[in-house]
Amino acid sequence: MEMVRACMRPAASASSGPRVLVLGGTGRVGGSTATALSQLRPDLNILIGGRNREKGMPLVSKLGQRSEFIHVDIRNSSRLKEVLEGVDLVVHAAGPFQRDDKCTVLQAATFTKTRYTDICDGVDYSWRAKSFHEQAKASGVPALITAGISPGVSNVMAAELVRTAKGESGGEPETLRFFYYIAGTGGAGPTTLGTSLLLLGEDVIAYDKGSEIKLKPYSGARNIDFGKGIGKKYVYLMNLPEVKSTHKNLGLPTVHALFGSDPFIWNWGMETFANFLPSVRVVSQINYYLRPGLLAPLTLWVKV
Ligand SMILES: NC(=O)c1ccc[n+]([C@@H]2O[C@H](COP(=O)([O-])OP(=O)(O)OC[C@H]3O[C@@H](n4cnc5c(N)ncnc54)[C@H](OP(=O)(O)O)[C@@H]3O)[C@@H](O)[C@H]2O)c1
Repeated sequence: MEMVRACMRPAASASSGPRVLVLGGTGRVGGSTATALSQLRPDLNILIGGRNREKGMPLVSKLGQRSEFIHVDIRNSSRLKEVLEGVDLVVHAAGPFQRDDKCTVLQAATFTKTRYTDICDGVDYSWRAKSFHEQAKASGVPALITAGISPGVSNVMAAELVRTAKGESGGEPETLRFFYYIAGTGGAGPTTLGTSLLLLGEDVIAYDKGSEIKLKPYSGARNIDFGKGIGKKYVYLMNLPEVKSTHKNLGLPTVHALFGSDPFIWNWGMETFANFLPSVRVVSQINYYLRPGLLAPLTLWVKV
């Protein structure tokens, strides 16, 4: 999780309550975020942003009078700037972030001086977003990027583990491995599964004794004990953003991320896609036909 700039400006519409726009609010993560925000802060006006009004209206009705649907395609910069005028905070959950070669929402937010956060989980996107640091600083808006579970919470967990390891041993940690295990089929939206499949078309960037290496996706199986109630599960190499950020920012020489799924047949499927599907375009289309699993227990392992 990267804090690009932390400074607050007064809410644009304080008299009627702050206005929060959730892009991708018609999806699973955006919809859950909007619901949680309205429960935590009933004074917020929550705008559900997306391309499909019919998909958004049930949530708008559920959230009540302070909510409305805003038709916006995040690829349309001028429309984005228009809808961000008068918005106090924009939450960007309209993935997939992989293969997106622009940061239209972040750029529009810095242009309109709107506070910004996203749940980006893509390596290239997150580093591109970081390159707007000076721009965000100049416009004086707080922009919190990659604030989801992975790499947001996982980076914070890694930083804490490294801090603890340094304190206990007095030495410098050498190796960090992220192990993720996903179970079930409900909860997350179709884009999340699409993302997992897109990742199978990407080389895995990892670090070995300080050198960047490229590895094959869904290779390097390990059997990891996730503890009581879950037990031992197989996990495989995936290209996840926390590998680069922990290597660069925490200074760990060796970092990898491995990911596994239940039921086990999903792992065979993922391995098969990684081995035999030649084109990422084909992989991305499968997005529409399969349902994803839930991001569940995450463990980290640090060797000092
Ligand atoms: N960082 C993390 O820990 C974390 C965890 C879970 C998920 N994610 C990421 O969060 C994203 C959302 O996941 P999800 O499970 O909520 O997926 P989802 O249910 O498919 O929701 C994505 C939403 O984005 C909207 N959208 C897509 N393209 C858009 C565009 N050009 N303009 C406006 N709206 C657009 C879609 O609406 P329409 O297509 O109907 O317009 C859809 O409602 C994914 O990229 C996923 O990888 C990150």
